[in-house]
Amino acid sequence: MPNSPSEPARHPSGAPSGAPEAASGEARRVVVRRKGPMLVEGPVEVELEDGSVVSSDRFQVALCTCRRSRRYPWCDTSHRDRA
Ligand code: FES
Repeated sequence: MPNSPSEPARHPSGAPSGAPEAASGEARRVVVRRKGPMLVEGPVEVELEDGSVVSSDRFQVALCTCRRSRRYPWCDTSHRDRA
């Protein structure tokens, strides 16, 4: 039975799941910080709540986690405290 505890789930590429693969074949790194955006190695496609998809070919993208960005889902630094 697929995904049973005795049988490791497989990535569509056939590799064991647990770490999604980047195009390079290495695990894609996501950096999470308590305050600030989530940094994701690109290129990425992001599916939004309405089903639309936005993409970026940058080597790393900053995804807004505070919801204050005017360019959501991309971080525009609006999360920073203003003096
Ligand atoms: S995390 Fe930077 S604007 Fe939201």
